[in-house]
Amino acid sequence: MSDKPLVAVIMGSKSDWDTMKHTDAVLTEFGIAHECRVLSAHRTPKQTSDFVNGADRRGVEVIIAAAGGAAHLAGVTAAHTVLPVLGVPIESASLKGLDSLLSTVQMPGGIPVGTLAIGNAGAKNAALLAIAILALKRPPLKEKLRAYRKTQAKKVLNEKLP
Ligand code: RP5
Repeated sequence: MSDKPLVAVIMGSKSDWDTMKHTDAVLTEFGIAHECRVLSAHRTPKQTSDFVNGADRRGVEVIIAAAGGAAHLAGVTAAHTVLPVLGVPIESASLKGLDSLLSTVQMPGGIPVGTLAIGNAGAKNAALLAIAILALKRPPLKEKLRAYRKTQAKKVLNEKLP
């Protein structure tokens, strides 16, 4: 998206994209200007802190951070900003994402990370939650969220079982 990003989506590795493409898809569906990039708490610590420190100044309002395994990206991000940080635990091969979940969710009091579910559902919901935060001050966006829920409910009610 070319507009100034309102949401920054960062992930620890390119291998996380398969999950985080769902965040990207929902933000795109709602027409939210956003940016996605790979930044790692461990492999690129300096660049990660530089990026997060500059985000507020650049107009970013919510940061979504996804990582797997020793998933410290969301926590480190939250340590560097007072913007809302949403964490997505990536499903890992070894422990099915339980490692990522615990690393992301068990933050010390004082530095909050809003942690979503492991994997695709978390990726999708991170986008929806970011949109709900943006919608607090943007009534048309709130209407879009209501319409999204309505369409979703309709789909569920129209499900045909074999
Ligand atoms: C984490 O390590 C990343 O977020 C990724 O989920 C995991 C594995 O990374 P790769 O070895 O696939 O680059 O930092």
